[in-house]
Amino acid sequence: IDIDWDASAATLGGYADFMAKEIAEQPEAIERLLSGRLGEKGILLDELKMTEEELAAVDRIYLIACGTSYHVGLIARTLIQTWAKVPVICDYASEFNYEQDVLVTDHTLCVIITQSGETADTLAAARKMHGMGAKVFAVTNVLGSTAARESDGVLYVQAGPEVCVASTKAYTAQMVACALFALRLAQSHGVMSAEEVATHYQDLKAIPDAIREVISRSWQDKQAAAVFRSATSALFLGRGVNATTAYEGALKLKEVSYLHAEAYPAGEMKHGPIALLEPGFPVVAIVPADRVHDKTVSNIQEVNARGAVCVAVATDGDESVASLCEHVLWIPPVADELLVPIVAVVHLQILARYVARTRGCDVDKPRNLAKSVTVE
Ligand code: G6P
Repeated sequence: IDIDWDASAATLGGYADFMAKEIAEQPEAIERLLSGRLGEKGILLDELKMTEEELAAVDRIYLIACGTSYHVGLIARTLIQTWAKVPVICDYASEFNYEQDVLVTDHTLCVIITQSGETADTLAAARKMHGMGAKVFAVTNVLGSTAARESDGVLYVQAGPEVCVASTKAYTAQMVACALFALRLAQSHGVMSAEEVATHYQDLKAIPDAIREVISRSWQDKQAAAVFRSATSALFLGRGVNATTAYEGALKLKEVSYLHAEAYPAGEMKHGPIALLEPGFPVVAIVPADRVHDKTVSNIQEVNARGAVCVAVATDGDESVASLCEHVLWIPPVADELLVPIVAVVHLQILARYVARTRGCDVDKPRNLAKSVTVE
């Protein structure tokens, strides 16, 4: 992250822009959110405002959100289904509001995820769910926002004001909030022992330092940004939870650098996007040390065979990736592979910012975008 000591930047606390400042604030934001969340009976999440019986009875969850918050929903779906074994439907609010196949049982819970708490589509979705008799829980960053006021329970992610239009610290904090919720649900459903809950909590506690480490390596992103200088398009690839990291990385790049970027689950590359590849075409592959690592390495080989340039996000010590890619954005090892997205995305935020700066874009106020979209 660049630190610009020009006095005129004082309101930015010395940072060149709010995007840089907010990226740097992520470790503290997550520490704040996690602080004091593990009690004698497990995860403390009184904000849910649900009794143990109500929580134990939840049999279906709708996660509804827009933009970057929708990507939080995709990660949360995996965490809830894996840890709490409760089926989850994750949808864009703008789609959900016009769907006729919404299935609400007596024990359906709706969770809306919204940084601002004011996104019109998300608020409309919550009202629709209330109208159908579901309880609504909000994960938001803004105190007293409409989403907070209209929901039955609210979990504030406490990331602090997010000024840059492109969301960074709210994204990672919202993922951590959803992880806490998934653990709380797993507890009440009796599918996770107290020891397992404590282990997952400790894994979450290790995330801020891993993010600090990524931020200290931002020179890697600065170097890799050169690959995108004269590009007209880029492809992001990832598998499993990191398909979502690819979606978010592509969204960040589009938002702040105006460079067209598309993201696909890596295994889908051969069903269309591979036709885009030609010498010099930039491909970002998220390939951490996890159960699908080798499959994604094969995709990188296919990218290389067509002369395209691969920038990889990989785990420290990964020789196979180092030998295939000129640019590697290294992340430290993360104990639970489901939590890698919270760390890996930080490189993609920093990369997007550097690409935008090399292309002369205003990273904090991209054209045509609003911080919160209050019309449906
Ligand atoms: C706008 C912003 C995005 C944000 C989305 C959802 O489009 O530009 O950065 O992800 O709204 O916002 P919310 O406040 O509901 O999370």
